[in-house]
Formats: sequence, C-alpha cells, structure tokens
Amino acid sequence: MAQQEIQPGAHVLGIDVGGSGIKGGIVDLDAGRLLTDRHRIATPQPATPKAVAKTVRKLVEHFTWDGAVGVAIPSIIRHGIVHSAANIDPSWIGDDAVARFSGVLDRTVWVLNDADAAGLAELHFGHARDYADGVVILLTFGTGIGSAIFVEGELLPNSELGHLELNGDDAEHWASAKVRERDNLSWEEWAGRVNTYLQHVEFLFSPDLFIIGGGVSRRSEKFFPYLETSARIIAADLENRAGVVGAAWYAAQKGEI
Ligand code: BGC
Repeated sequence: MAQQEIQPGAHVLGIDVGGSGIKGGIVDLDAGRLLTDRHRIATPQPATPKAVAKTVRKLVEHFTWDGAVGVAIPSIIRHGIVHSAANIDPSWIGDDAVARFSGVLDRTVWVLNDADAAGLAELHFGHARDYADGVVILLTFGTGIGSAIFVEGELLPNSELGHLELNGDDAEHWASAKVRERDNLSWEEWAGRVNTYLQHVEFLFSPDLFIIGGGVSRRSEKFFPYLETSARIIAADLENRAGVVGAAWYAAQKGEI
C-alpha cells in the first residue's frame, strides 16, 4: 500500500476481533505503544456481524473515544467486504464491514485482516524493521493460524497461509495454538507440527525471516528450540498487542491522520 506520512503525535483506537476476545486500546503511533490498558471483552457467541459491532461499540465507549478507529478481523477483507469466516460466524461473508462499523460508530472506520494488522505493527515498530528489504512472513498462532507476507516492506494482503493443506486438512486444524491445548500436546509435540508447517511455507515462499505471533509468542522459549528453518525465526515483539497496534496504524495511514 502506498504509504502516507502519519502526523506526529497521532493517536488512534485500535481494535482486534479474535475468536475468543475483542481487544482494544488507544495507540500512540509515534512509538507504536498503547497509551491505555488493553481492554478485552469476550467475543459474543455466535459472533455475528451485529453482535460483534455492538461489542466494538462497547469498547469505544469504554475509552470514551471520539477519534479515529481501526478494526482488525479474522477474515479476508477486500475493499471493505468480508470474504471468509473461519473462526467467526459464517453470516459475516458478504458483509460490508467498513459500512457496518462506520455506521455503528458514526465515523469512518478502517478494517483489515487481523494477521495483516499484526504484521504491519511488527514491521513498523518491532525488530522486523531490520528486514524491510527482504521477504518477511508473520504467522500468528491462536484459534487459527493467520499470516502476513511482506516483500520489501510492502504487504501482500489476505494471504491466508493457515489454510494451506497439510496431511489432507487445513494446517490451522493441525498446528494452531488452540489445537495444542485442545489435544493436550506437549510443547515438543506441538513444535514438531509447527516446524513441519514452517518448512512447508519456507519451501513455497523462501522468506528471509519468520515472525511468530499470537499469545504463544510470549512462551517462545518452550518451542523455539525445536524449530529449524533456513530463515531466521523470531518471536513477535509486540506480543498480543500487535493486532491492536496494527489496526490503529492502518487507520492512521488510510485516514491520513
Ligand atoms: C482466518 C484468517 C485469520 C486467522 C487468524 C484464520 O482462520 O482465515 O483470516 O487471519 O485465522 O485469526
């Protein structure tokens, strides 16, 4: 995406819609850090567009925020329209997410894929900045597996590498963080799966750097020792704040804030 200059001192509310929680915080875009607590409300079930929009409004009210808002959701999103719904209600498909959130918040809201948001945050504010001239792949391990691909700092949006087929199924059904917990896998067993997946992604895209994000990135010492790729592997710097920070950064870019 063509990059605009973000105004010095810009603050934007970032919101990250996940399978189990909807998180938000006001982001200082000079430093890419949260100025407030990271407030979390459980994702309503079923996570229909109407129910999620209502929860997003509650988060905005929690911060009594009337400024710009960016929202990250776990879906393919093209020109504001949702095209997939792996871990949220299927009724999202075809929904105009930009119109929905803008309507409920009474301002223009920018919406993008959650892993793309995390990747943008890591690339602009994390160690990945040093790799801006190469190929960088961020993978988030949570309820599903999200991905963001960057070539020379440019995002290829909606890459959806969590749905690559492995052993006859979606990779995220075999190697997500949720599967580790659900199937009671040891860290070593789960890391073996992650490694098989990383090597597959490496064969297809030859990245210079993998960034491992999602909640598990805080526990990298448990599984990084079992991972082996030619590409360097690092844990996400922004940990579970990356989606919130990236959503805010994206809104600031798009809205020229
Ligand atoms: C979705 C992606 C999302 C990822 C992480 C996958 O199931 O298809 O769009 O980025 O989960 O939330």
